[in-house]
Amino acid sequence: LENAVGRKPALGYNTWNAFGISIDEDIVKATAQRMIDLGLRDAGYVYLNVDDAWSEPVRVDGKLIGNRATFPSGIKALADYVHSKGLKFGIYSDAGSHTCAGFPGSRGYEAVDAQTWADWGVDYLKYDNCFAPASDWIVDRYVAMRDALNETDRPVLYSLCEWGVADPWLWAPEVGNSWRTTEDIEPTWSSILKILDYSTGLARFAGPGHFGDLDMLEVGNGELTLGEQRAHFALWALFKSPLLIGADLRTIHPDSLAILKAREVIAINQDELGVAGDLIWQQGASRVYAAPLAGGGRAVVLLNLHTPGGQYVVSNISVSWEELGLPAGTPAAVRDLYATADLGTFTDSFTAEVTAHDVRVVRIVPLGGLKHDSWRPWF
Ligand code: GLA
Repeated sequence: LENAVGRKPALGYNTWNAFGISIDEDIVKATAQRMIDLGLRDAGYVYLNVDDAWSEPVRVDGKLIGNRATFPSGIKALADYVHSKGLKFGIYSDAGSHTCAGFPGSRGYEAVDAQTWADWGVDYLKYDNCFAPASDWIVDRYVAMRDALNETDRPVLYSLCEWGVADPWLWAPEVGNSWRTTEDIEPTWSSILKILDYSTGLARFAGPGHFGDLDMLEVGNGELTLGEQRAHFALWALFKSPLLIGADLRTIHPDSLAILKAREVIAINQDELGVAGDLIWQQGASRVYAAPLAGGGRAVVLLNLHTPGGQYVVSNISVSWEELGLPAGTPAAVRDLYATADLGTFTDSFTAEVTAHDVRVVRIVPLGGLKHDSWRPWF
């Protein structure tokens, strides 16, 4: 969507994965402060998005208002607070009669709700798809809110949460700044792989202003190992998904925090070119994902799917220049982006040891750049 925001994937925080419907204004304020104290705002995470369950259970005078028990100061005051911390404020609603948790939805109230949010200073809208009549065409409901947001003077990043229904990559690039490719993520390795596989092959539909959303991050949640968290974060970054932190920042483990703050991995996500990465090679339990970067470089994620503790704890995984659309014999500098370490100059291929359920993330930059960039996705 061409609306002056969302030219790069959104970086921020969303309350849902950590708190579900048990949110209140104190949690949001504490999260804002933690985003600053932990250095996340300075790492680029600027959106602080309140998910479902912020409103009164019914409209008041036809309008949405903050829940009187849990957000007693009102949403405008909360947005002001978040802005005073140098962050942007996001909110959630639904294209049907009710949100997924049963609060009032915006169907039929698009104009009035868009104006309410503009008056509050909302910067980001996540728009869900529960309780929609089957007779409606999904695209019409999402277009109605896009147009209502455009009618206000406030640029709002418009995030479609349609769970991959109706092949959104075919229509959503014109309608929103991002669209979900699947149903909800869970903090398990199988959920992460499922979303990854559903999202494979869709890179060509994304670009600046319109990105596929692989759902909010589970880094720091559930029983994911550090290797799995590294893989999850790097692949979401490479796919140009919005990166919305979903862990409780009051208690997050320092190792998970370090993954979320991996500066050079975030930089892949925020690269100027804005081309999404995708799967370019696989064999057995070894996979190579890659994306082109501005200036002729490549970001590469080598993924080992073997079960930890089994026979193949470590695999050697290679990527060739041919697979990356780089001329054979081109000297290129290779850098490990989690380790922030230069690995040397290579001319035809690069091979690394990758631990089971983990990744190596590298940037491969041809010395002297490329005359013609012949990047093409492999499918
Ligand atoms: C849906 C969305 C989730 C979350 C919940 C809130 O399931 O996909 O991301 O917003 O609704 O109820």
